[in-house]
Amino acid sequence: MQGSANLNIMIKAARLAGRSLVKDFREVENLQVSMKGAGDFVSKADLAAERIIKEELTEARKNYGWVGEESEAEQGEDPTRRWIVDPLDGTTNFLHGLPHWAVSIALEHKGEIVAGVVYDPAKDEMFTAEKGQGAFLNETRLRVSSRKRMIESIFATGVPFGGRADLPETLQDLARLMPVCAGVRRWGAAALDLAYVAAGRYEGFWERGLHSWDIAAGILILRESGGLVEPLSGTGDLLEGGEIIAANEVIFEQFSKIIRA
Ligand code: IPD
Repeated sequence: MQGSANLNIMIKAARLAGRSLVKDFREVENLQVSMKGAGDFVSKADLAAERIIKEELTEARKNYGWVGEESEAEQGEDPTRRWIVDPLDGTTNFLHGLPHWAVSIALEHKGEIVAGVVYDPAKDEMFTAEKGQGAFLNETRLRVSSRKRMIESIFATGVPFGGRADLPETLQDLARLMPVCAGVRRWGAAALDLAYVAAGRYEGFWERGLHSWDIAAGILILRESGGLVEPLSGTGDLLEGGEIIAANEVIFEQFSKIIRA
């Protein structure tokens, strides 16, 4: 896999942040944790990882803009390009010592995601994609699964937590979907959910209440693996709308009919 200079910068930043997060993950019980909102925790590790990524990316590309989960958005001198960063997707897993979380970095150019990196340091899995160049897991080219029967397929979602308003819709989705498929998973890191659909590990994913930094990199990785992804309601801005449905291309229609019913 031969990536562009920008992709290599993103991979380097993700690895550096990943190293710092792994160190903190080993000491997770000693971390100082503070409540940021219902069910949404920020840790010292999260903030340190964002600092590392921001330093690396802005050092290499001084004029790009920035959107990160833990800091103020900044417009760069080049208004057409911005980084969209979640330094730690799966924060709740991290804080509970569950090794399923990731660093997510995307590069947007003129409103389109052109490069994406989702790095799972605990498993040393680096998912990458560039627009038109395919997607990779480490050095291996990714392709969505070819399962086309709902009853053989597994799906992932995010079940709203901490009193979020969209719980009833998600429970109704589950009631329609669970009887007709092979299972539903709630792994707790949306960036990895999209990367796993891209890798053919499960057939589809849907969730409401997401942020652009949770999904920006994963959307490109999924598309470059041959998957389909749309706003859950069928209209609106995919990145900023916060609701998403994604699947391999053969099962997308059957799956989305059930979720959108
Ligand atoms: C969260 C994870 C989780 C999803 C939440 C997100 P964070 O991101 O992606 O899977 O269900 O909606 O907020 O807060 O860990 O970066």
